[in-house]
Amino acid sequence: MKIILLGYMASGKTSIGKKLAKKLSMKFLDLDDYIEEKENRSISEIFKEKGEVYFRIIENKYLLELLDKKTSFILALGGGTPCYANNMDFINKTDAHSIYLNGSTANMIERLIRKKSKRPLVASLDDDKIPEFVAKHLFERRPFYEKAKTTISIDNKTKKEVAKELYELLN
Ligand code: S3P
Repeated sequence: MKIILLGYMASGKTSIGKKLAKKLSMKFLDLDDYIEEKENRSISEIFKEKGEVYFRIIENKYLLELLDKKTSFILALGGGTPCYANNMDFINKTDAHSIYLNGSTANMIERLIRKKSKRPLVASLDDDKIPEFVAKHLFERRPFYEKAKTTISIDNKTKKEVAKELYELLN
C-alpha cells in the first residue's frame, strides 16, 4: 500500500505523514528530502542554481521512481508536485491512496508567513505580499489538489488530530 499526502506549502504534509506512518507502522518518505539526497543539494540551492523548470523535471522523475517501487510507504509530496508534468494522473493510475490536506486560504496565508524561509517560491516576498500570492496560487492549484482520492480539512485541527482522523479513515 502507498499513501500519498498532498497539499499547499506549510499544510503539514511532512509532520502529519510522519505521525501517520508511526501509527500505521509504515515507512515514511518525503519527496523533497528524496530529491535533496539524490541531487546532493537543498531545494533552495536547486532553484537558485538550476531554476524552477529543472526542479519540476527532476521532481517528476523522482516521483515516478518512487511510484515504481514495490514497497509500501507514506509519501509527502512538495506543494507544487500535483500541479506539474501530469503528476496527479500518474499517481491516480497506480493503486496509491492520494489524500489532499485542505486548508482555507486564510489558514494557509497565516501558516506560510510563519514558515516561508526555506521555501524558495516565497522566501524573498515581504509578509504583506503573501496574502495575494497565496490566494492566487491556491486558485490555480486547487483543481490539481482536488484530483486526490480523498480530501480532509485541516482547519482548526492540530497535526495530531489530523493524523488520528486519517488513521481512522484508513483503518
Ligand atoms: C513547492 C513546495 C515545496 C518544494 C518547493 C516548491 C511548491 O515543498 O517542493 O519549494 O511549488 O509549492 P513544501 O510543500 O514541502 O514546502
